[in-house]
Amino acid sequence: MSDSAPRRRLLPLIGHNGGRSRATCRFRCGDACFHEAPNTSANEYFGDIYAGVLSRRNVLRAGAVGAGATAVGLNGAFTPALAAPGGRGPNPRLGFKAVEPNTVDAVTVPKHYDHRVVIRWGDPVAADAPEFDFAGQTGEAQEKQFGYNCDYVAFFELDDRRGLLWVNHEYTNEELMFDGYTDGSAADLEQIKVGLAAHGGSIVEIERVRATGAWKLVTKGERPYNRRITATTPMRITGPAAGHRLLRTQDDPAGTEVLGMLNNCAGGTTPWGTVLTCEENFNQYFVGGEDAPAEAKPALRRYGIATSGDTREGNRRFDRVQERFDLSKHPNEANRFGYVVEIDPLDPTYKPRKRTMLGRIKHEGATTRITEDGRVAVYMGDDERFDYIYKFVTAKRYREGSRRHNDTLLDSGTLYVARFTGNSPDEEIDGSGALPSDGRFDGSGEWVRLCDNERSYVEGFSVAEVLVHTRQAADAVGATKMDRPEDFEPSPVTGKVYCALTNNTARTPEQADEVNPRANNKFGHVLEITEKGDDAGATAFGWIVPIVCGDPEDESTYFAGYDKSKVSPISSPDNVTFDARGNLWISTDGHPGTFGNHDALHAVPVEGRHRGELRTFATVPAGAECCGPYITQDQKTVFIAPQHPGDGGTVADPVSTWPDGDFPRPSVVSIWHTKGKDIGF
Ligand code: FEO
Ligand code: CA
Ligand code: CA
Repeated sequence: MSDSAPRRRLLPLIGHNGGRSRATCRFRCGDACFHEAPNTSANEYFGDIYAGVLSRRNVLRAGAVGAGATAVGLNGAFTPALAAPGGRGPNPRLGFKAVEPNTVDAVTVPKHYDHRVVIRWGDPVAADAPEFDFAGQTGEAQEKQFGYNCDYVAFFELDDRRGLLWVNHEYTNEELMFDGYTDGSAADLEQIKVGLAAHGGSIVEIERVRATGAWKLVTKGERPYNRRITATTPMRITGPAAGHRLLRTQDDPAGTEVLGMLNNCAGGTTPWGTVLTCEENFNQYFVGGEDAPAEAKPALRRYGIATSGDTREGNRRFDRVQERFDLSKHPNEANRFGYVVEIDPLDPTYKPRKRTMLGRIKHEGATTRITEDGRVAVYMGDDERFDYIYKFVTAKRYREGSRRHNDTLLDSGTLYVARFTGNSPDEEIDGSGALPSDGRFDGSGEWVRLCDNERSYVEGFSVAEVLVHTRQAADAVGATKMDRPEDFEPSPVTGKVYCALTNNTARTPEQADEVNPRANNKFGHVLEITEKGDDAGATAFGWIVPIVCGDPEDESTYFAGYDKSKVSPISSPDNVTFDARGNLWISTDGHPGTFGNHDALHAVPVEGRHRGELRTFATVPAGAECCGPYITQDQKTVFIAPQHPGDGGTVADPVSTWPDGDFPRPSVVSIWHTKGKDIGF
């Protein structure tokens, strides 16, 4: 890679950085909710043992911090002209009528908006991709075609008319891809090869259809950037754990190169114009854990990998095509998944990098913000019941325009895990969702150091062990157990950072705490973090829970104190993004419930008089969750990615025929205002 790479238009301050059937649970997360949560550590549900320490340090409370907030953008250089397009006052408000909850097998948008499918599963990515043939799928064809189950979406402008779309392909629903599919043990080997090739990500060139927000796939000409990344694409392992014995295998004795990425869920972008794509439920792809070496088993279990029973039952059985997925023979192979992967969309020769310095967890997303002194902070959630929130801060400063320098940034720095403390008495948090007497679920927190390049701060763990066994290292320092931390996004207007906590029905009333205040948390909540001094490099922060999700008629819900008769229902917040006015956009993955309705994209102001006035902007087809969302820099398009449409059905017995009226195809959709107005305004 050179600094004379093609000109990139960097993302400025805004943009995304990233009732289910049993079948989806099995294919997506390996039935995580049906198993015991893998975090069996004796950690406090709250860091209340540290409360005294924190109050002595006089950590700022959320309200106090928020009141004095200065404007800081994604890359720390907030300029009102860029992040405050016309009409943003102190009380931003949404300008569309909410879409009613529904069960329509289509994408539904508000009045005056329109939408169009940009790309669907099987569409050509490589210029020589064969036409999609549902009945005659091959691995070779799928490697050149758009993969399955789109999740995180990012967009990189090439010029005013064209851009590159990055899309994660999180996992595959074989029961919807192949007629008569039962499981991986019975599957045709070609179907397994299709499965491997349908994972990963895609880079595709798209172009405007007209001067609004409609986009379509470029299907002619060279398309030099178009690229598929799959579960077998060679990747470099970088950072302090690269080459460690835990990462060495028979195929890669040096421990520095791995084939493919798995279960890439959400993600983010960097200030230097690359994608961070995050490996989440990688555990489900491995078999043979029962015959793995005894000393490896506790670590496998901590990541949800079964080490007893029949580990082949219900598995996709990638091991039938590539033996490395069998842990009885290659016990370290699982240690090579669960990372943040960096990819340069403008360099088709860029070998993807698994950045070990950012730790190994079930990474949901990775969202960057520049610190006061010019370094880069990355916020990350570990999406599992009772797992943790992390932050990484680079050692070196971001250097604008120096691609070579910036390519080294994510390999050195400090990895932290979050510990939260509430400011209300424990007895006022009863798990019902009732607010404590100070009227807010809020408090303070600290970023607890796990390691930097030179030193581990966790007793009994080397630096490499912290980075490979990150969950156990975080257990050891008393991190706070959260309700499935999903995507993060900083507000381009205030610099506050938001995290979606999707749900956790396993939390008992005794385990409820102020930052996870509801027991049997079916519908999730949203967390707002204000770093001390508004500096993304701070090690202390204030926090508040502005939204406790659900049907607004449910007493346990909270919409920042807004009149609940005026808000839309929301269940299981997942991916988040911001518009330029500072409104938060939240897409949902409604397991374990959407009140019988389809998943959706919602928007909500988080500042001013209308804070909490949440409205549904779009709903997705039957069986789908709503991924994306990504709002283009010009505010004229929002991309969403309906994932697993038709979930709950089979090829023979479909529950969705979206988008084309035949069989369901995960797709990316653009939505725009028909008169060219800004999205949501
Ligand atoms: Fe893949 Fe946490 O959603
Ligand atoms: Ca409180
Ligand atoms: Ca997600």
